[in-house]
Amino acid sequence: MRAISVLPKSRELRVQQIPEPRLEAPSDVRLRMIEVGVCGTDREICAFEYGTPPAGCDHLVLGHESLAQVESVGPGVTELRPGDWVVPMVRRPCPHAHCVACRRGRQDFCFTGDFRERGIQGAHGFMTELVVEDERYLVPVPAGLADVAVLVEPLTIAEKALLQLWHVQERLPWECPHRPGKDHGHCRRALVLGAGPVGLLGALALRAADFETIVYAREERPSPKADWVEAIGAIYVSAREQSPSELAARHGAIDVVYEAAGASQVAFEAMQSLGANAVFVFTGVPGRKSPVPIDTDGLMRQLVLRNQIVFGTVNAGRDAFEAAVRDLGRFEARWPGALRALISGRHPLEAHRELLLGRPAGIKHVLAIGAPG
Ligand code: BGC
Repeated sequence: MRAISVLPKSRELRVQQIPEPRLEAPSDVRLRMIEVGVCGTDREICAFEYGTPPAGCDHLVLGHESLAQVESVGPGVTELRPGDWVVPMVRRPCPHAHCVACRRGRQDFCFTGDFRERGIQGAHGFMTELVVEDERYLVPVPAGLADVAVLVEPLTIAEKALLQLWHVQERLPWECPHRPGKDHGHCRRALVLGAGPVGLLGALALRAADFETIVYAREERPSPKADWVEAIGAIYVSAREQSPSELAARHGAIDVVYEAAGASQVAFEAMQSLGANAVFVFTGVPGRKSPVPIDTDGLMRQLVLRNQIVFGTVNAGRDAFEAAVRDLGRFEARWPGALRALISGRHPLEAHRELLLGRPAGIKHVLAIGAPG
């Protein structure tokens, strides 16, 4: 069968023929891959700046944002049946007994860094026709969401951030008003930095939690992204119209910043707009550029005197995957067509070079690998 792989030693990206995987353990599930999304991490791996093949292997099969259909199941599989739709999780636990996170199934918080990530780090990914995976790493998706479910994995980034935000804001005695079922009060304005798929999905999640949401991005208006943002009831601000530090002055104090641009200078500038008791969440992984000066005294004073919290978040556990599946359904009901509009193109395998090595216009590009059964 065909697989899209990188070969780091010879610095090649190519379509390879690899053997079909077989069910081995009783809890194994064989999947027919239907769609795989292309993201910045895949492009970095193709530029040989990131990513590692499995031990003893010269190639890494790419792809970690995916949607699959169950083809067959081992005798120990309890929840899944052929024909079911699933999204596989990305990270697999490290082997160390002392890593409590991995031992508790929370490898998204792994302490050792010896985890594997499918399509990224030490494990083959999903840009291939068939995949075998243990049932415990598969998240079921209702058939009615199959058209947009390739967005589950990129949405898990926002879901994990929000789950942590609710925990962090438990520190406020009146509780964060955006927790489902809570009354409104303080904490109502969110700023999203970046209008790529992670930023726009984050904006949807924040709007669904009833945050007044501002999306701050490079692109000038008029733009389809600005229209999309306004259609979900959020505000679009172009970096050409306002500087990050002007945002709070114009819109009021910001309670949550969801950073999804990987641009550190803009992020630290926007940090100055954080209000009292606010939280800043980093999700982007910036490339290494030359250092930029920041006013460390000013920032430290502000963080302390306004009770602010800054945290970074990566990868996601089953709770965030399940929340993402649930939220896709809620988003579809509240803003019909908004999710579909994020998928700019579905392409055959042959288009992989231009998607992985080029800079295709649009938001999320997807490889259509197999036909649904
Ligand atoms: C993936 C995460 C992964 C991270 C770091 C992201 O693109 O969505 O699952 O943990 O890269 O490798």
